[in-house]
Amino acid sequence: MTRIGFISDLHIDYLRSYRPAEMIEELVHSAQDNALSHLIIGGDISNSYTMTLTFIEQLQQSLSPIKLYFIPGNHDYWQDPNASKETWKIHQLYQTHPLSLMNEPLLIGDRLAIIGHMGWYNHAYYNQEKFSPEQIEIGRYKIATWQDKKRLDWQMTDEEVSQIFAAEIKEQFNQVSERQVILVTHVVTTKDFIIPMPHRAFDFFNAFIATDDLEPWMNNSSISHHIMGHVHIRHQFHKNHQQWITNSLGYEKEWRTNQLSQELAQSLYVFNFESSN
Ligand SMILES: [Fe+2]
Repeated sequence: MTRIGFISDLHIDYLRSYRPAEMIEELVHSAQDNALSHLIIGGDISNSYTMTLTFIEQLQQSLSPIKLYFIPGNHDYWQDPNASKETWKIHQLYQTHPLSLMNEPLLIGDRLAIIGHMGWYNHAYYNQEKFSPEQIEIGRYKIATWQDKKRLDWQMTDEEVSQIFAAEIKEQFNQVSERQVILVTHVVTTKDFIIPMPHRAFDFFNAFIATDDLEPWMNNSSISHHIMGHVHIRHQFHKNHQQWITNSLGYEKEWRTNQLSQELAQSLYVFNFESSN
């Protein structure tokens, strides 16, 4: 039996009541309680690639023999606002890491494949009556700034990054299109998971949540499950014979309880694959 658990947006450096070591303990308990064979983390582990990679390697050791894989999120690329940015270098680290799904499709048995990528937002959805494309590109609105603008630098527009990453996702898919495919991204790939507008903050910030470079293609592909994070809501629906899931752990201040174990139980999505499927 293959049982694959998915969770995203751990944000271990924003935890108030738990240390990263306790997050590892609780994730191991949760994976064992759910009899997982695999655990997949959908990005936003921390605000620093060194912390993220250390955490992933420690978690792998503690989880063994349960297999661990991950994709990074935008936070996992952050550097100090004053640092000279090495975003593509960090990207290279994530692409070549042996536990990264951005590397190549993960084949499970003869019939299942998981493909994963951070993806990138492309300003497809925001309140266009309130804001101009120029205001969105700057990422600053009154006193609020979209922190990616200060913390990382792709040296190209968000739209260009989204297109490059969408092409990489399609290329990964083409390698495994004869299998049942699960796609994991960090950014949101459907307008159904943006924050409903009008909204005081997300009329602006929805621009940095989702991309529309993938949805038409996804609807017509043999992908059975689309799993994503980034937006810190927990929701799922069935559409076009596909399951769409967003299941972030999110910031501790957003939790409904004060218990990490309960929040993990509520946000972990478990996919059951019978090898006879
Ligand atoms: Fe994120």
